[in-house]
Amino acid sequence: MATAPTKVASRPVARVMFVGLRVLLATGCITLLLNLYNQNDMHHIQNDRQNELESYRQIESEFMRRSSQLEENCQILGTAAYEKSEYEWSWSSYLLFMFLDNVSRAKHRICVPLKIGSISWIDLSEKLRQQNIKTAVNATLMTVRHPLARLVSMYIDKFLDGAPFSSYQNHSLYEFSWDYRWRKYWMPALITNKRISPPTTYFEGIRKARDGLLTNIRNGITSDVGETENNLVTTILSSFGSDNVKLLGTHFSNASISFEEFVNQVIWSYENSVADHHWIPFSLDCNVCAEKYDYIIHLENSRTEVPYLLNKLGYNISIFENTHHAKPVNQYNTYKDYFRLIPKQKLERIYEIYKLDFYLFGFKY
Ligand SMILES: *[C@@H]1O[C@H](CO)[C@@H](O)[C@H](O)[C@H]1NC(C)=O
Ligand SMILES: *[C@@H]1O[C@H](CO)[C@@H](O)[C@H](O)[C@H]1NC(C)=O
Ligand SMILES: *[C@@H]1O[C@H](CO)[C@@H](O)[C@H](O)[C@H]1NC(C)=O
Ligand SMILES: *[C@@H]1O[C@H](CO)[C@@H](O)[C@H](O)[C@H]1NC(C)=O
Ligand SMILES: *[C@@H]1O[C@H](CO)[C@@H](O)[C@H](O)[C@H]1NC(C)=O
Repeated sequence: MATAPTKVASRPVARVMFVGLRVLLATGCITLLLNLYNQNDMHHIQNDRQNELESYRQIESEFMRRSSQLEENCQILGTAAYEKSEYEWSWSSYLLFMFLDNVSRAKHRICVPLKIGSISWIDLSEKLRQQNIKTAVNATLMTVRHPLARLVSMYIDKFLDGAPFSSYQNHSLYEFSWDYRWRKYWMPALITNKRISPPTTYFEGIRKARDGLLTNIRNGITSDVGETENNLVTTILSSFGSDNVKLLGTHFSNASISFEEFVNQVIWSYENSVADHHWIPFSLDCNVCAEKYDYIIHLENSRTEVPYLLNKLGYNISIFENTHHAKPVNQYNTYKDYFRLIPKQKLERIYEIYKLDFYLFGFKY
């Protein structure tokens, strides 16, 4: 599903806030805090604490802003427009909530689309469920990320940032074997970019699967929609034959996929209804106009937002001390470098595909 998270240096501001939050939690009151220091330091500490409170207020109002922004944009868009999106074939069948709390198991839910910190949340939610929290407030959370930064992250993860396929080694349980990646990602991308020419049965198979899917949706049969991406692997295997698929894998083991070729593959997969689960718009994944999301976490800021929020919801966030959860992903500032060389026409197609993500969450192009 995803690679091990990348290491990124901690940001000083985040660190200060985080330590501050921990101290407040541990002591619970400012008097105790102040007693630890002499008079000369007092002024300093009061300033620090004021800054902290100021930061919390900022986070809080930012959460409120995002939540009402989503609600407003959904209203403007209208449910009908959202449901009638041309990507309706992907549906909301992926809507996946993780439950965080251990008391009623329905109080704290989070929707985490793939490539937006999902792996970290799997680990984290297991730890959170060990805690007995006492809060009575229900909350629905989700994580989002700039759509272009998410695409770059997929390219780095699934297409090895342009390295030869032969360099692939899975590092964790959440990853898949070389053969699996070959037939699911690399070989289809080589075909789309005309570096492997497929038998005609390949395109026929893709078209058939797509027609079947659309017919089912038109007839209201959505139970089979599921992972439409599987149609791609099935068609690869049936049209080439599994021996040939293997053989081609050996032949192309040193090949690689450029970023533009990856973009071509994303566009092609949408147009043929075999888009990969990892690059489905997260607006669809989390059914954002039908659910009410109280807290929308930006992956880029998760280092500060996640501990803040969990503390607010009543969790003991000391578990963050020695974990690598919620590291900021530094691709946020570099996705532009990747997209700079993509022709305008393709870029516009990408905006079109992810327009709900851009629009509903207020991300700028
Ligand atoms: C929280 O959610 C649970 C389960 O859905 C529900 O029974 C309960 O009434 C909710 N509590 C509040 C305060 O809304
Ligand atoms: C709930 O928390 C208790 C400890 O407080 C723990 O023993 C139990 O395993 C937890 N349940 C789940 C489902 O994690
Ligand atoms: C790599 O992936 C394979 C197949 O998915 C799995 O069996 C194996 O355990 C993985 N290796 C590691 C180190 O996790
Ligand atoms: C791939 O590259 C390695 C190292 O350069 C080379 O030994 C190997 O023969 C190459 N394999 C193919 C299939 O070209
Ligand atoms: C939080 O957890 C840590 C250890 O995991 C524990 O030492 C601490 O007392 C806990 N704090 C509260 C307020 O329960």
